[in-house]
Amino acid sequence: MANEHEHCVAQAFEDTPVRTFEKLRYHVFVCSDAGDFCGCDAMHSGDMVAALRQELGKRGLLAAVKVSLMQCRQQGAKGPVLVVHPDGVWYDGLTADKAGEFVEQQVVRGVPLAAYVMKGAPKPVTAVPPHVAAATDECCSTETPEERVRQRTG
Ligand code: FES
Repeated sequence: MANEHEHCVAQAFEDTPVRTFEKLRYHVFVCSDAGDFCGCDAMHSGDMVAALRQELGKRGLLAAVKVSLMQCRQQGAKGPVLVVHPDGVWYDGLTADKAGEFVEQQVVRGVPLAAYVMKGAPKPVTAVPPHVAAATDECCSTETPEERVRQRTG
């Protein structure tokens, strides 16, 4: 396990009462916008979405990872921009040819692909579900999910 507390979060997700998402581990948002000053679309974000879905399909992970499109997040010319929830990890410059590496590192191992983690990224915007936070706290950690993300991304 890449992080000693991953089992806590994994168990909390297993225990989730939200049946629709019982197998969901990550929700990856990919900017597909042609924003006035960024332009992820021009940076081939559509190719990234297709490559991600193909890679997830090859590995049988389509039920565990949902890939959605999002609109411009005003991040400048760094596209394509991705945000991985629930960890709140932002990526930029992650192109379709890196989809396999991204899935292996971020999805399978649960560790951000450091070379593409956005520098100066916004703080995580997703609130950690209370049952996940409680399970993590109860188990063995005093570390918050945000601290874990910071630790992983250096
Ligand atoms: S167009 Fe993607 S962040 Fe602006």
